[in-house]
Amino acid sequence: MTIPVLDPIIGYIDEPVDPALDLYEEIERLKREKNAVILAHYYQESAIQDIADYIGDSLGLARRAAETDAEIIVFAGVHFMAETAKILSPSKTVLLPDLNAGCSLADACPADAFAAFKEAYPDHIVISYINCSAETKALSDIICTSSNAEHIVRQIPEDQPIIFAPDKNLGRFVIKQTGRDMVLWDGVCIVHETFSEQKLVRLKTRYPDAPVLAHPECEEKVLRHADYVGSTSGILAFARSHSSDTFIVTTEEGILHQMQKDSPEKTFIPAPPESGCSCNQCPHMRLNTIEKLYLCLEHELPELIMDEAVRIKALKPIEKMMEMSLAIV
Ligand code: 13P
Ligand code: SF4
Repeated sequence: MTIPVLDPIIGYIDEPVDPALDLYEEIERLKREKNAVILAHYYQESAIQDIADYIGDSLGLARRAAETDAEIIVFAGVHFMAETAKILSPSKTVLLPDLNAGCSLADACPADAFAAFKEAYPDHIVISYINCSAETKALSDIICTSSNAEHIVRQIPEDQPIIFAPDKNLGRFVIKQTGRDMVLWDGVCIVHETFSEQKLVRLKTRYPDAPVLAHPECEEKVLRHADYVGSTSGILAFARSHSSDTFIVTTEEGILHQMQKDSPEKTFIPAPPESGCSCNQCPHMRLNTIEKLYLCLEHELPELIMDEAVRIKALKPIEKMMEMSLAIV
């Protein structure tokens, strides 16, 4: 067998996959042979969601990564998620089907610029959204996700000023919910900022009884039309338990696969983006494909490698988040 070489610019194993292979069977076999687990985010393509051992939001995925007994974690998500898994489970091999699966929020907050920004607010505590690099996490006091951000901010003493980074939309939403003033870093998610308020309002007129479910990474002008705002897991749980038969979904459309599997009798309408394209699909999340996942598990490449000093620094604020969100299920 030839040993493949991973070109870091390409970021994945660039090999043809025999179309006659049953990738589900092959991936199941490799998982058993290698004691591997597949953790996937709801924004992955349907085929990946269907083969995953666990699908979840960022908090659920981080918890799973910390708990697993598997020797290999294949992280079907984006780079910051795989990094979080490695930070929490350093003895495991963490694989990411495509190393270039990044995130606009993580890219918008480089650690050197963030360190300089922090210097202007020496008495502020730093709460960073998990959608940032390990280096930026290492500069933070507490990490949060969309499912626990409000809960964590409410635990900070009233007289303690806060910097919230990198998502200004989530930050603004938390400010509105808690009444706490926070200094916000100017980052956005390129997927969630793309939803059109005008088209959403038109859709609501056509489906007046359909609750609008939105992710807090959306802009304020979109969130104000939402009946429920929450993380991907929160959105799923809301749709499962709500009596309505139709829902308008304002987040990356990959989640519709689980929503439909969960409640086959209900109708889920994706909220439209500004342009007519599929820009409510995350271009980073969608770099992963079932073929790349198969090749990555077969060759155990690309592997997420992290500097140990950065890992140790980034672990502290993640542990703080875990401690402060025990009440969140
Ligand atoms: P959650 O799944 O934690 O809600 O986060 C969404 C997201 O932006 C992932 O990139
Ligand atoms: Fe980042 Fe947005 Fe893609 Fe999530 S959906 S990975 S926040 S760019």
